[in-house]
Amino acid sequence: MLKLSVIGTGYLGATHAAAMSSLGFEVIGVDTDESKIAQLNLGKVPFFEPDLEELLTQELASGRLKFTTDISKAADCDVHFICVGTPQLKDSLAADLSYVNASFHAVAKIAKAGSVIVGKSTVPVGTAERLSKELQTVNNQVELAWNPEFLREGFAVADTLRPNRLVVGVTSDRAEDVLRQAYKPLLDNNVPWIRADLPTAELVKVAANSFLATKISFINAMAEICEAAGGDVTVLAQAIGYDPRIGSRFLQAGIGFGGGCLPKDIRAFMARSEELGAKQSVEFLREIDSINLRARQRMIDLVRADIGNDLKGKKIAVLGAAFKPDSDDVRDSPALDIAAQIHASGAQVMVHDPKAIIPAKARHPELTYSESIEDVVDAADVILHLTEWKIYRELDPQLLKGLVKQPVIIDGRNSLNRELWLKAGWKFRALGRSSAS
Ligand code: UGA
Repeated sequence: MLKLSVIGTGYLGATHAAAMSSLGFEVIGVDTDESKIAQLNLGKVPFFEPDLEELLTQELASGRLKFTTDISKAADCDVHFICVGTPQLKDSLAADLSYVNASFHAVAKIAKAGSVIVGKSTVPVGTAERLSKELQTVNNQVELAWNPEFLREGFAVADTLRPNRLVVGVTSDRAEDVLRQAYKPLLDNNVPWIRADLPTAELVKVAANSFLATKISFINAMAEICEAAGGDVTVLAQAIGYDPRIGSRFLQAGIGFGGGCLPKDIRAFMARSEELGAKQSVEFLREIDSINLRARQRMIDLVRADIGNDLKGKKIAVLGAAFKPDSDDVRDSPALDIAAQIHASGAQVMVHDPKAIIPAKARHPELTYSESIEDVVDAADVILHLTEWKIYRELDPQLLKGLVKQPVIIDGRNSLNRELWLKAGWKFRALGRSSAS
């Protein structure tokens, strides 16, 4: 049985380590963050991800899974998965590769002869070939492969154990064979396997995320047109989605995409394409990015249209801070960005989120937060629904009407039951649905 290491224990790495252990492998998770490692060894996941804590506890108890800050403990592993982050650089569109470079060199130093280093992080195309060359001078007994990850936050465990495809970028049959062994239990379940060269494997990931971002911005552009023409984007999305060539998923119009992946990935793709002399090929992503950011502004415009241009002294109730439901991730969260911008205009903003209050407070301490929806909506001039948590769809509009100052709700995610709110006497607004009243 192969022994595996997973370098970097964030959303991707912690899930990958626990999932690979559940497939029967001995796994050691490595991170430089001591408190994260201490928590993981106690069975505590340092972020919210459904089902992960249960899997982690189960796998720690099995004895197969361990976490450490000492990378030398991974020296006897056959496969090393690099799962560190590649955030956007502060002063450019490009990705920050410092964590990938550092973990690659740290693991290359200790990797035993015959082992394979497998990059899972999302990187600009060309990174794997560069690292592969570096490996020849640092440790030529070891090979490099690239195996992009497609998991979604909120579904990380299910996506890791039941991926819709496995893509491996390799330079030898041997490396492919080692990866086939590592993923054998999934291959036995007929998960499609795609062998590619290193640049194609890297590109598959950014192409997939660019396509998803494009789909979301496409429907948000249609929302803008619906607003201008008096149409309803939710009906339009439903109607075009029935065409299987288009498909209905990722056509949810609203305040747009955020998180630690789509926004920075399309920007890094633009930056890398320019370096490659192929700037024009993905120039459309610039528009995708600006449609996306415009959606946040349109939401703020709707607020002003309803409660007046001057937001000073108004009380705004915000439902949702996470970039999407079932996650406590607030990186580039459209919800939190909107809340902060409205606060900056002088309004009194109170934010609720079932899981993301602590990380949201760390980023935006100037906002007021409460774990009680009743507190947040109390005497509010308007409620903004910005992250589509299930609990918000289950709210009783009749009950809330007695708490607010005026019954006005703006659905930034097009996922509330409009008829229900209208029936209860609310003024209901939504992005891309000008016929709402
Ligand atoms: C995304 C991809 O979906 C994953 O396949 C990929 O592995 C991951 O990035 C990554 O690169 O690691 P994730 O960031 O977890 O996953 O979130 P998504 O489910 O893609 O949602 C992204 C954003 O788009 C959220 O803010 C969501 O609210 C928004 N969205 C999604 C919409 O506004 N409309 C939609 O129809 C769908």
